[in-house]
Amino acid sequence: MHSNTNIPLLSSVIQLIKDMAMKLLLVALLALAFAHAVLASDPSPLQDFCVADDSSKVFVNGAVCKNMNDVTADDFYTSGLDKPGNTVNNVRSNVTAVNVNKIPGLNTLGISLARIDFAPNGLNPPHTHPRATEILVVLEGELYVGFVTSNIGQTNRLFTKNLKKGDVFVFPQGLIHFQLNTGKYNAVALAGLSSQNPGVITIAKAVFGSTPPISDDVLAKAFQVDKRLVDRLQAQQWTDNNN
Ligand SMILES: *[C@@H]1O[C@H](CO)[C@@H](O)[C@H](O)[C@H]1NC(C)=O
Repeated sequence: MHSNTNIPLLSSVIQLIKDMAMKLLLVALLALAFAHAVLASDPSPLQDFCVADDSSKVFVNGAVCKNMNDVTADDFYTSGLDKPGNTVNNVRSNVTAVNVNKIPGLNTLGISLARIDFAPNGLNPPHTHPRATEILVVLEGELYVGFVTSNIGQTNRLFTKNLKKGDVFVFPQGLIHFQLNTGKYNAVALAGLSSQNPGVITIAKAVFGSTPPISDDVLAKAFQVDKRLVDRLQAQQWTDNNN
């Protein structure tokens, strides 16, 4: 009687432990996969450097490494950032990017730089960097800057700041942000970006200036305006102030 009641109990306890172990394993695997997704970024280097080999016909996520023996100091070098970009354009600003396309040595390192010039009233229009957080320092002049959060509940919160020379501001990865010169003179900023190739999506240009154009029906509904206004916006010349 003793064993008759206990053996089924024991086996169901064992089954329970097995089930729990399976569930734990599943949770652990999911956590690992999730952590991997959350931590995903520019590839972390598995060697001192992996200078982009632009002559390679092989496509990988990034660029293949140039032979170490062929690497020189020039692979980590560029110049000319002392010169302002030309701000004679619709938005009166000019972004000079120094990314992996300018410095092949940045490949796999997860970092790049930009110089941003603003004429008085110049605007770096609302845009996002799909692959990078940005940290910006004002070298000259005054800027009104801000970013908007993603849809949190029903709200997109706006964070803004008036910056002067020496001030620093951060634009988190992927969020829409802008910078406006509010001073009387030219302004200059330097920005560090957490990707070798941050990418830029200029909102107005991407939405109203795509090739081919997005259907005006779609945009009229999305922006809750009539199609004529959409057509007018789509007919405009959309400047890309990034170089
Ligand atoms: C930005 O400045 C560079 C260098 O002066 C110039 O070549 C480029 O055309 C300018 N871009 C715009 C959009 O004005």
